Amino acid sequence: MATPHIACEPGDIAPLVIMPGDPRRAERIARTRMDDVRLVSDVRGIQAWAGTVDGVPMTAMASGMGVPSLSIYATELFSQFGVRRICRVGTCGGISSDVAVRDVVIASAAHTNSSVSTIDVPGVSLSLAASYDMLRGAVDHARSGGRTAHVGSVYTSDFFYSSRMDIVPALDRLGTLGVEMEAAGLYACALANKGEALAVLTVSDHLKDGSADLSSEERETLFQAALEVGIAALKA
Ligand code: HPA
Repeated sequence: MATPHIACEPGDIAPLVIMPGDPRRAERIARTRMDDVRLVSDVRGIQAWAGTVDGVPMTAMASGMGVPSLSIYATELFSQFGVRRICRVGTCGGISSDVAVRDVVIASAAHTNSSVSTIDVPGVSLSLAASYDMLRGAVDHARSGGRTAHVGSVYTSDFFYSSRMDIVPALDRLGTLGVEMEAAGLYACALANKGEALAVLTVSDHLKDGSADLSSEERETLFQAALEVGIAALKA
């Protein structure tokens, strides 16, 4: 049975979902990294691509931008389509000096200004954390390839254009590696639906020294490397 935002049958969606932010990215993953690809849903510009990766059934589907958009898709996938694991593959802005543009950040946890951490249990800020098994799979894969892979907390912000940049030094002091806009929402949806989730992020710019000009070719190469880390996490 279709849901309001995913127009296919539960059997059309694999238990493992790779989730970039950008719908064109999902199509590229499907066309370049998946076999036996089928377009199974196309609602509001968000397509779900079913297929296999190295023989393992997977679905590539975008989240759109921000916690509200991601939460719609992740909730429907976990609760109505039997999805077990979702791996977000995206970008973040660097906060910590320990990370540099081009590095991979594997988000073990996500701080957030979104209400997802406080709305479900009054008086409690929920701990929004990655799946241990996915985290281990991602870290093992990244480090076996000799890549620098930072593991730690990120900050999921409801604002790309924030008027409160004054909070960044405090986040930095607390070891926060980078800022993005979806991981906490994904971890909250996994928590609410007994699913598993992870965010693998490429540092696309750094708050300390402004944005980096990555060529589109380099962007693609970096994305492919992060995608492989995410695939390893889904299979772990
Ligand atoms: N802020 C929020 N999200 C982001 C950023 C940023 O600076 N860079 C990449 N995603």
